[in-house]
Amino acid sequence: MNRYKKQIVTVFALGLLLSGCNNTPNQDISTFKDAFAGKFLVGAAINVGQIAGQEPKAIEIVKKQFNSVVAENCMKMENIHPEEEVFIWEEADAFVDFAEKNNMHIVGHTLVWHSQAAPWIFVDDSGEDVSREELIERMKNHIQTIVGRYKGRIDGWDVVNEAIENDGSWRESKWYQIIGPEYVELAFQFAQEADPEAELYYNDFGVSGRSKCDGIYHLVKNLQEKNVKVDGIGLQGHLNFDIPKISEMETSIEKLSSLGVDLMVTEVDMTILPWPSDEVTAEVSLNYELSKEFNPYSGGLPDSVYQQVMDRYTGFFEMFLKHHEKISRVTFWGVHDGNSWRNDWPIEGRTDFPLLFDRNYRMKEGVEDILEMAENWETK
Ligand code: G3I
Repeated sequence: MNRYKKQIVTVFALGLLLSGCNNTPNQDISTFKDAFAGKFLVGAAINVGQIAGQEPKAIEIVKKQFNSVVAENCMKMENIHPEEEVFIWEEADAFVDFAEKNNMHIVGHTLVWHSQAAPWIFVDDSGEDVSREELIERMKNHIQTIVGRYKGRIDGWDVVNEAIENDGSWRESKWYQIIGPEYVELAFQFAQEADPEAELYYNDFGVSGRSKCDGIYHLVKNLQEKNVKVDGIGLQGHLNFDIPKISEMETSIEKLSSLGVDLMVTEVDMTILPWPSDEVTAEVSLNYELSKEFNPYSGGLPDSVYQQVMDRYTGFFEMFLKHHEKISRVTFWGVHDGNSWRNDWPIEGRTDFPLLFDRNYRMKEGVEDILEMAENWETK
C-alpha cells in the first residue's frame, strides 16, 4: 500500500470510529474520492489546458471528485525533453504545483515508452543508432533529471510503459533493439536511485488478454528475482463496449496480485463507438479514416446504449470493489467526454462517450449508483 493510501485509509478508519457509524450507509454520497475512501484512490488524467486554467469547470470536477492526478501528456519525453540539452519544465511544474496545492496523490507519466520518445535519443549526429552504452547513458540522464527534479513530490512513476506485445513477447522498440530486455531493469534502477521513496510502476494496455498478462507477470517476476524495486503494475483500462469481459480483467488482477505488488487500474475509459479492428489495444500509431458508419452517435446517444454503458461500468467497479485490497488506485483517462483522446483515436473527429462526466461537465446519470455501491460495500 502506498504512503498516500495509508494516510487516507487511516483518516477514513478514524472517521468511522469517531462517528460510530461503520455499518450505516451514508445517504449523502456525492464524490468518487469519498465513496471509495478506504478502498482505493480514484484519479484522473489532466491536460495542460486544464492545468493552465482554460477549463475551470473540468478543474472543479477534479478537485471535488478525485484524490489522485496524472498528467496526460506533458511529462512524456517528446514534450519534456525534446532535445538532448533541452528540458521544458513549465507544464510539468505547473501540474505538480496544482496537485500539491490541492493535496492530491501525484503520478508521473511516463519515463520510458516506445511512443512519444524524442527522436534524438536513439540516434547520433549522422542519424545512425547510438551504441548500447550511449543509449543507457542517455536514458539514465533522462530519468534521473526528471525524477530528481520532483524528488519527494511525485508519489509514483510509470517508469516503463507498454514494453510487452499482446502475444506476451517483448515489443521490439528502439529501447529493446539497442539495449536489449535489460533496459527495463535499468530504467527502474535509475528511477530508484533518483528518488528512493517514490513508488515505481510498470504500466501496459490489453492486460486482460491471457498471453499479455503472462508476459507482464514474467517481466515483473524477473525484476523481483533480480531484486529490482517494482512497487506496482498499472493495468490500463482502455475498454471497449464489448471487450474485454469483466471476468477476463478479474483473472488478470488475481494473477498479477500474486506477485505481491500493488495493482492500479490506470487510464480507464470506455469507447462505445464501432471498433475498426479485431484487437483491443491502445496502440497510438493506429489511424483509420472517418466515416459515418464509424461515428454513429454524433447527434447523441440512444438511451438503450447509454444504459448498457452504465451497466458495464457498474460491473467493472463492482469487480474492482471485490478486489479492493489488491488495488491501490483507479484512474480515469481524462475528466469528461468532451476532451477524451477517444474522440480522435483511432479515427479523428468522432463523438465518443467514454467517461463518467459529460460534455457539459455533469456527472452522468447512474454514476450515483456506482458511488452508492462503493459507500455501502462491506469489507469482507
Ligand atoms: O498539443 C499538440 C498540438 O500543439 C498540435 O498542434 C497537435 C497536432 O497533432 O498535436 C497536439 O498534441 C497531441 C497531444 O495528444 C495533445 O492533444 C498529439 O499529437 C497526440 O499524439 C497526443 O496524443 C496522446 C497520446 O497518448 C500520445 O502521446 C493522447 O492525448 C493521450 O491521451 C495518449 O495517452 C496514452 C498514454 O499516455 C499511454 N497509454 C495509451 C494512452 C492512449 O493512447
